[in-house]
Amino acid sequence: MKRYIGQPRVEGKASRQAHADLPPGTFEREMSKEGFFGPAAFFHHRHPPTGWSSFEGPLSPHAFDLTKLDAVTTHPWSAGDLLFNAHCRIRFWRVEGRMDALARNADGDDLLFVHKGRGEFFCDFGRLSFETGDYIVLPRGTMWRLECKEPAALLLIEATNASYMLPEKGLVGGHAIFDPAMLDAPRVDDAFLAQQDERPWRVAVKRRNAESTVTFPHNPLDAVGWHGDLSVCRINVRDIRPLMSHRYHLPPSAHTTFVGYRFVVCTFVPRPFETDPGAIKIPFFHNNDDYDEVIFYHAGDFFSRDNIHPGMMTLHPGGFTHGPHPNALSRMLVQPKPATDEYAVMVDTRDALEIAPAAAKVEWAGYVDSWKGSAK
Ligand SMILES: [Fe+2]
Repeated sequence: MKRYIGQPRVEGKASRQAHADLPPGTFEREMSKEGFFGPAAFFHHRHPPTGWSSFEGPLSPHAFDLTKLDAVTTHPWSAGDLLFNAHCRIRFWRVEGRMDALARNADGDDLLFVHKGRGEFFCDFGRLSFETGDYIVLPRGTMWRLECKEPAALLLIEATNASYMLPEKGLVGGHAIFDPAMLDAPRVDDAFLAQQDERPWRVAVKRRNAESTVTFPHNPLDAVGWHGDLSVCRINVRDIRPLMSHRYHLPPSAHTTFVGYRFVVCTFVPRPFETDPGAIKIPFFHNNDDYDEVIFYHAGDFFSRDNIHPGMMTLHPGGFTHGPHPNALSRMLVQPKPATDEYAVMVDTRDALEIAPAAAKVEWAGYVDSWKGSAK
């Protein structure tokens, strides 16, 4: 049996409990294996670990303003990749009105996150309404289309050549965070049956990231029923009930919502701040060496980040030391308000992500300098 090399030790001035009771005047940094699951060391630094005087080279973090991606297209494959690797592709897509063709992803399961918009979603399995804050999980191969009642902006996260799963809930049990019974499935209802017609329909199928078009003389969403244990699922972020501890700042992994292959999707939703006087109240410094970290900022006030607004997305490459921005750092042990009011979607990938030209075009070049001023 293999195990990591190392034994628990305490050296010098150190707290024994992670994320609490830091030696006065110190800044905690976590170095850990396997995201926040493996063995870890917690350093107590005299200076904030992000207090660099210059930072050059490809390890620099990135911030992208997706609100500037304002092109509206009628189907998702024309929304180019923003970030990608062999196991995950992230797109941002704006759509209005009614899609003029069906979409089908033969490359992997897709996760749609509705950043804005409202309407009807039709697929092989039936009809679902969608609204802002919905996650919709699409099994690979599902044919689908949207009829928007309000213009929509969606984040699309592809689990390339893999399936989305629910995370292992361990000690808190399978009904924590959200009960699987909260997952809605499409219905074969009157509205679904009414959209079935005998007009020609195109299906835009994506396979190996190339598009093929299949045309039918009728609408292929023509099922009158189905059975099975595979389906499209929907849950809204307001139905996620976050884990929290009033005495311990939980790692981001506590907010894991879906698991792909070699990446996870986590959701940050409003939660009370820690109230224990010795517990840190903001994210600890870390350099998540095994994962690239992507955060899409959906709504609210992002308490640990300066100069970030809804619709932005950041990429912190594995090995990039980060933590709270200067304004948040001053509140490390101070409870700023009773609860956070941020909503964000995080994608942590075990393999490095590439930045596609569409993302590079809307990059905020000054992001790496946004930690400056944290040296006090
Ligand atoms: Fe991080």
